[in-house]
Formats: sequence, structure tokens, C-alpha cells
Amino acid sequence: MIEAKQLSKKFGRFQAVKNASFTINKGDIVGFLGPNGAGKTTTLRMLTGYLPPTSGTAVIAGHDVLKDPMGARKCLGYLPEHVPLYDEQRVTEYLKFRARLKGIPSKEIWNNVARVLEICDLEPVRRKMIRTLSKGYRQRVGLADALLGKPDILILDEPTNGLDPNQIRQMRERIKALTVDHTIILSTHILSEVEMMCNKVVIIDQGVIKAADTPENLTSNLRAAGKIAIEFKGDLDKVVEQFNELEHVKKVIHDSTTEDGWHFLTIRAEAGTDTRERLIEILTGLNCKVRHIHRHIPTLEEVFVEMTRKD
Ligand SMILES: Nc1ncnc2c1ncn2[C@@H]1O[C@H](COP(=O)(O)OP(=O)(O)OP(=O)(O)O)[C@@H](O)[C@H]1O
Ligand SMILES: [Mg+2]
Repeated sequence: MIEAKQLSKKFGRFQAVKNASFTINKGDIVGFLGPNGAGKTTTLRMLTGYLPPTSGTAVIAGHDVLKDPMGARKCLGYLPEHVPLYDEQRVTEYLKFRARLKGIPSKEIWNNVARVLEICDLEPVRRKMIRTLSKGYRQRVGLADALLGKPDILILDEPTNGLDPNQIRQMRERIKALTVDHTIILSTHILSEVEMMCNKVVIIDQGVIKAADTPENLTSNLRAAGKIAIEFKGDLDKVVEQFNELEHVKKVIHDSTTEDGWHFLTIRAEAGTDTRERLIEILTGLNCKVRHIHRHIPTLEEVFVEMTRKD
């Protein structure tokens, strides 16, 4: 549905995006992640055809965004990072104007506007001047604009940026409702948002795509995925010795022992393996008492930090 092939963008000598390639399938909900200045907005603008790449191509629903920009734009709705609204227009006037610009036939304009006003809960402010709207409402007008013409694909650049917690929640619910019949790329800094909504994650850092995968694959491949914590009482030396002999175990670390004899161990195993059952077998075999065993489940935040940290 969306294919980026070796997309690059240079601003003067500065290379903002380097050979970005990824594929997004119909129905995917993609979280586009990266630190400030990583190149998210630049990539999204190239995908929408608003910014010509220095090299590479982007194809949206079969339309090359450079060769057939109108064809591509008909299939996508774009909510830019800074929504360029006309302050001196009323909400409905603005949306009608945008619908005309998008080439929606006159007799369908009103239906389209009414539909997006409803989806975005803009009925209460439809007659207000845009300049009088709060940030949350402006963002909703931007989303309403993106939804005009019922595009299959939505590209949303930080849709919840600058909103208060209640507005963030509402915007998230609204986007969630749209996931049913759209393919969505969503850039955000809120990782829990991605964990809740997205089936795919693309991570970009310093203009380079670092990963494009499902959240599950990303977290289970993380080094921290093989970490297990155990608290037990018994023969520490024997336990450590036998743990060390287990398949997939890379390191056994003795963290501490309490005065009353509870040993705290951290076991580092290969990412994606689960050795808990074997560990317990050994502990019971050595007549140990166990009061805690926990396999660390990495979060998307840990994946993000590991892939984008500078040291
Ligand atoms: N028109 C431009 N001219 C020159 N440099 C630019 C231009 N647009 C973006 N850049 C630079 O390209 C880099 C990537 O910017 P971009 O806006 O794509 O980052 P981003 O990942 O969207 O960041 P943020 O999370 O802050 O929105 C930054 O260093 C930015 O300063
Ligand atoms: Mg940006």
C-alpha cells in the first residue's frame, strides 16, 4: 500500500534522511518513532508528495508520488505537524474550501464536510472563526481536513502533540476508531500510544531507519528480553554452577543475599528464550525454596532507547 524505496533528503549539505526503505501493507497501523530531529516529518512529507526527495521513490496505493502526485494525494489524508489553517475562515467554510481544493465534486462536498464534522466532534464549533479555536480543536480541524474525500491512507504527524491529557485520550480514541478501515502512519513521542494502537513500528534515528517490525518482534529481540530474576534459599554455589550449564543461559549474576539467607540472582539468557521452567527444575532438584521468579518483558521504550541512544 505504501512503499518507500531508498528515500533520501538533503537540505543543502545536511542529509536529513538517508536511504529510507520500508513497506506498509493495507490495514497496517504504523507507529513512526524517532528522537527530535530524526527525520520523521521529512520522511512523512516525502511520502505525501509535499517535499520532493533528493533521491529515491515513494509509491502510495500504486501511484508514484512524484510522477502522479494527484493520484497519490487522492488516496491519502495528511495531518501535518503544524496544521496550516486559515484563521479568518469559519470551520465549515474552511473544510468546504479544502474539499474543493481536493477536487471533491460540488454535490458531494456538503456530505463530506458533514461527515468529518461528526467524526471529529466539531459540530459545536462549526460556525466559529478558526483563529478563536483552542489547540485541541485546531488539531481536530486538521484531522477533519485529512479525512475529507474518505482516503484509505492516513498520515498523521504527531496528532496528539501539545494537547492536554483529556484531549490526548479523545484524539487517541478517534484515531483508534479510524484504524478499522484505514491504513495509518502515525508519528508520535508517546510510546504507550504505539503499544496500544500499532501493529508495526518503524524507528528512525539521525535520518536512518533502524528497525521496521512488529512491536512483539522488536521487544523479544531486545537484549533485555532474556533477563530473569530469581529469589531462593539453598546452596548458592551449586545453583549457580548448574544454571551456568543450561542451554541459552549466558550469564548468572549473584546480586545479593539477605541476612536470613535469601539469594537474589539475575540470569541473562539469549533474547527470545524462556528458561524459567528449567531454572525451577534445577532449584527443586537441589531442594531450594523459591519465593520469586520473573522474566523481564521489555517495553517499546527500552527498544527505542537502545536503538536511538548516542553512546
Ligand atoms: N526545510 C528544512 N531546511 C533545512 N533543514 C531542515 C528542513 N526541514 C528539516 N530540517 C532538518 O532536518 C532534520 C530532520 O527534521 P524533521 O523535522 O524531519 O525531524 P523530526 O523527526 O520530525 O523531529 P521532531 O520530533 O522534532 O518533529 C532536522 O535536523 C531539521 O533541522
Ligand atoms: Mg517532526
